Amino acid sequence: MNRRRFLVTSAATSTLCALHGNAYSRLVESQQAAVPKEELSPTLREKLRRDPLRPQFHLLPKANWMNDPCAPQFFRGHYHMFLQYNPGAAVWGDMHWAHAISPDLIHWKHMPLALSPTLGFYDAYGCWTGSVLPGGEAASILYTGVTKSSVELETIRGKGLREVQCLATSMDPDLRTWKKLDKPVLDGPPPGLKVTGFRDPCPWKDGDTWYLGLGSGFHEVGGAVLLYRSPDGRNWTYLHPLAKGSNPADTGEMWECPDFFPLKDKYVLLYSAKRKVHWEVGTFDRRELVFHSETRGLLDHGSYYAAKSMVDAKGRRILWGWVEETRSPAECEVAGWAGAMALPRVLTLGTDNELRMEVLPELQSLRSNVQTLQKAHNSGTVGAALTRMPIQNRAGEIVCTFKAGESAFGLELRAGGQAAPLFAMKYDGAKDKPSVTIDDKTLPLSPDRDGISTLNLWMDGSVIESFFDNKEAITARCYAPSSGNLHLTWTGDTNALESVSVSGVKLISNDRLTS
Ligand code: FRU
Repeated sequence: MNRRRFLVTSAATSTLCALHGNAYSRLVESQQAAVPKEELSPTLREKLRRDPLRPQFHLLPKANWMNDPCAPQFFRGHYHMFLQYNPGAAVWGDMHWAHAISPDLIHWKHMPLALSPTLGFYDAYGCWTGSVLPGGEAASILYTGVTKSSVELETIRGKGLREVQCLATSMDPDLRTWKKLDKPVLDGPPPGLKVTGFRDPCPWKDGDTWYLGLGSGFHEVGGAVLLYRSPDGRNWTYLHPLAKGSNPADTGEMWECPDFFPLKDKYVLLYSAKRKVHWEVGTFDRRELVFHSETRGLLDHGSYYAAKSMVDAKGRRILWGWVEETRSPAECEVAGWAGAMALPRVLTLGTDNELRMEVLPELQSLRSNVQTLQKAHNSGTVGAALTRMPIQNRAGEIVCTFKAGESAFGLELRAGGQAAPLFAMKYDGAKDKPSVTIDDKTLPLSPDRDGISTLNLWMDGSVIESFFDNKEAITARCYAPSSGNLHLTWTGDTNALESVSVSGVKLISNDRLTS
């Protein structure tokens, strides 16, 4: 069973419990395997460089499999991104931490692997997701180590494995090497607490006290974030759930990758469950130490998971997420790579206490050859203008403003001669609450005072990230090949179209970051 199938079918069991029978055997085999080489063969490098489906302005590892962003941070003048990485194959397994460094959150350089499982150690079966541990003397991270376990203590049921929480520190100015503490800081869940999983630490510091949220949940009850407290960031005491779900049908029974942070005068809780990232906005009761949720929603309606945030040099809350593949593991193996990091999104809070997000505005510096069509009432004029506004090389940005009124319309993106569009947005006429559909997903619109909605779309190889009114997002994958340029077509009521602009996007490296 592959990672995707596992995660889809595992609703009733502990999330990682049934995790890809195969992947787990691979994980165990990797214990005997030699340390993987980081250099790519010239043939593979050339293949990746030429793969039209491989993104050119998203961050992704040189080759092979990636999943969650880990411990993104601004440190001594640079941005660092770590990510869940399998150096040996383009499928999940043998989790390491890859590392990349950036001056601007846009251009990245690969660094050597930051964390690898250590044979015979408490993370011998994998270095899983983690976060920055703030406020220490040395740069520190907390991550989940996977270790062999007796059946009574296992947290990955039926696999003889337990998740423990580990601390590593770095004294390097560029965070190149990490020293692991000789013992885990948390050797397992609180005794007596039967949990569906125990991973993905998200610590924060308040005054002289450290807190730690851990992704977890309770069988047939719901997911949870377990809360710990510490006087020094090393010795942790379990308190109670910071938040918990009450309906496994809604948000599953295991919350992965929690993230908890203040935004304006509220607190935001993110967690990943049932293949989606959920957000909740509310208050943090500092006396009772619990989160009270007020509003909630989905962070992205598409292939986007395991989101994690950081504060940038300008004090903005920046969100990262893993763009998952929707093709089969066999296809990923043939391609030689799987997964990408979504574009950084700036998170803000609307006056309705709901989340807003926009792609980091600095990414607009990558725009090239911007072409704009202003309102035109004649469909012939619109059609002709759009054919003169191509997206080349599957790398482009589209900004489209429209008025969702009484009549139906749509926007499609396709390669010349292709019947099926790579992207299609449909609006089917007046509704109490206007919404558009993308594939089988319905996304509500939040037009401005003049009734105008805005679509921001970024296309990069096989990744299409779209945002509506800076509120609803959908990350889609499109693997259909295309020869030549891509073009937009507007269908239905031309009066609804206010403007479209199409830009090229400059590449962030000339070999799709395989160097
Ligand atoms: C989320 C996740 C995390 C875990 C990691 C393992 O995608 O399942 O919960 O730490 O991936 O790679």
